Amino acid sequence: MKRRLFFALWPGDEVRRLIADTARRLASHHPGNPVIPANLHLTLAFLGNVDANQYQCVEAMASALRCTGFTLTLDQFGMFPRARVAWLGPQHTPQALQQLSDSVSRAARECGIHLDDRPFNPHVTLARKTSRLQETAIEPIAWQVDAFCLVQSNTLPEGVRYEVIGRWPLLTS
Ligand code: 2AM
Repeated sequence: MKRRLFFALWPGDEVRRLIADTARRLASHHPGNPVIPANLHLTLAFLGNVDANQYQCVEAMASALRCTGFTLTLDQFGMFPRARVAWLGPQHTPQALQQLSDSVSRAARECGIHLDDRPFNPHVTLARKTSRLQETAIEPIAWQVDAFCLVQSNTLPEGVRYEVIGRWPLLTS
C-alpha cells in the first residue's frame, strides 16, 4: 500500500490559531477556497506516493537527523500565480530552516524517492484556486519551531485531511 507523504512543520495549537485568524482576516483580499485550520502547515519536502519500504527508510533517516530549532517569522502575504495559492511566509528564511529542508530532502532521495528540483520556497498555503490578490501588510507571527513532522495526506469524501504520522524534535539552538 502506498501512502502520500510530505515532511512539514506542523504548528501547535496557538500558532495554528494565529495563522487561522490571519487567514480569516485576509480572506477578503483574495478569492479561492480556504484551507481548513486543521490542515495548515509548512511543507519542507513533498515525497508523493511512497511504498512500505521507502516509508520505513524515511522514518529511520528522520530519526537519525540532528537539526537545530529556530524561530520562524511569518510576515509576508503572497500568491503563486501558476499554482493559484495564497500563502503566508517568512520574508527571511532562517539558515536552520533551509538546512532542515535540505536534510529531509536528502534523506528522502537516499530512500529512492524522487523529489522535484524546485528550490525550497517556505510558505503556509492559506487558500487554493485563487486568481488575484490584493497585497496588504500583516501582523507578523513568531513561530518557535522545535520539531519536524512526517505527514500523510488522506483523501476523504469530505476533502483532503492531513495526519501527522511521525514527529521528531529539533535540537535547542
Ligand atoms: P502547496 O500548499 O503549495 O500546494 C501537501 O500536498 C503539501 O505538499 C502542500 O503543502 C503542497 O504545497 C506540498 N507540495 C509540494 N509539491 C507538491 C506536489 N508536486 N504535489 C502536491 N503537493 C505538493
